[in-house]
Amino acid sequence: MSLGVVILAAGQGVRMRSALPKVLHPLGGRPMLSYAVETARALSDLPPLLVVGYGAEAVRQQAGADLLYAVQAEQRGTGHAVLQARPLLEPLATEVLVLYADMPLLTVETLRRVVEARREQEATLALLTLVADDPRGFGRVIRDQQGAVLRIVEEADASQTERAVRELNAGVYAFDAPWLWDHLPLLPLQRKGEYYLTDLVEMALAEGRRVVAVTTDDPQEALGINTRVHLAEAEAVLRRRINRRWMEAGVTLVDPERTYIEADVSIGADTVIWPNTYLRGRTTIGSGCQIGPNSLIEDSAIGDGVRVLASVVEQAVMEAGSDVGPFSHLRRGAHVGAGAHVGNFGEVKNSTLGPGAKMGHFSYLGDAEVGAGANIGAGTITCNYDGQQKHRTVIGEGAFIGSDTMLVAPVQVGAGARTGAGSVVTRDIPDGALAYGVPARVRHDE
Ligand code: UD1
Ligand code: MG
Repeated sequence: MSLGVVILAAGQGVRMRSALPKVLHPLGGRPMLSYAVETARALSDLPPLLVVGYGAEAVRQQAGADLLYAVQAEQRGTGHAVLQARPLLEPLATEVLVLYADMPLLTVETLRRVVEARREQEATLALLTLVADDPRGFGRVIRDQQGAVLRIVEEADASQTERAVRELNAGVYAFDAPWLWDHLPLLPLQRKGEYYLTDLVEMALAEGRRVVAVTTDDPQEALGINTRVHLAEAEAVLRRRINRRWMEAGVTLVDPERTYIEADVSIGADTVIWPNTYLRGRTTIGSGCQIGPNSLIEDSAIGDGVRVLASVVEQAVMEAGSDVGPFSHLRRGAHVGAGAHVGNFGEVKNSTLGPGAKMGHFSYLGDAEVGAGANIGAGTITCNYDGQQKHRTVIGEGAFIGSDTMLVAPVQVGAGARTGAGSVVTRDIPDGALAYGVPARVRHDE
């Protein structure tokens, strides 16, 4: 049997009150729909089929090229949305699993249970249900006195007794493919001009076919996102899952409730993350690091044994044994070499600090290259911008830059050279020389 997975992502998500299509709202640092796509890939060798409509171009761009796409030009309900998948999937799949892109927390294991329940019980349709106190506007699962499923009723169409039912439709369905394609065109038109996928339950039963309901024992994974309140709830569940995974992998989270690690981050064992720390984007952290408190690291590569204290690190590299902070900012293209030190109130952009270099206090390095072991005195500034263009500063190995030096780029300071406190360096300094004053001149009597 070949399983086709259809992910519905054509709706606008009116209840989000947003210009952004609902399924693109970020969750754990990724668009919401990426979770359903990832789960679908784990379930089948066929590429997942995404039904797009509202904001189709933006959705396609985020979801990538290695998926199948069907367009639902007008949002006429979940049943109508699945029908759009027919031309592409009918020749490929003998069974079809339908998911909604606004349910990012569903696990592969649970979806597999639904697929297998249908196969094992030779049912036409299997669906996932959950039991929860808060019905969240979900469809209710109506059963007869013997407990057999009769139908699903949407909240807006439910009677008062039906509304009191706490078994909810999660929105995951496995179908026998030929039956699905034959019956989707027969769905009745509902209020608001929509065709409900959920009406297939009643239709299958009316034909005497078998419908099985699988109930998840973890209702949290069926947290569908319809509003921004739901979005925050799902974010909290995802955060706990991610944090638990890293703790199990040997990372200490001093206060997991106040540690924010996005889905694509990786962290080595014996690293300690202090509270109020945000690890975002494609960040990798080595082992034995001390990160935080109060730090934000985004799209950066952090080596082993690094310390980041109360600092912001973006698109930067920190090699093993280096450290930054408190209160410093490593920006795009900052590369802090092994064992190098960036102390308080420093800013580094598009610059390399060689191994063991030190920049302790109140300095700015922009478009600079600092050799190994050089010392950047307090208050040193690379004047890299002349109002039109950026220029480079090169500082040789072992150089000693005196406090409050202004390095007016483009300029080079030789290996082992020194500058006096308060120098304004406008010309290159040879290796080993001392330059001082305003503008700095090289001293020749040494
Ligand atoms: C749906 C179910 C409900 C279930 C709930 C679980 C139906 C009729 N109702 O309601 O029983 O409890 O999900 O989360 O199926 N979509 C399209 N095209 C459309 C309409 C929707 O692609 O024309 C997509 C949306 O982008 C979304 C998904 O289908 O990803 C579900 O739509 P939504 O409007 O959120 O349905 P619910 O009201 O949540
Ligand atoms: Mg929904």
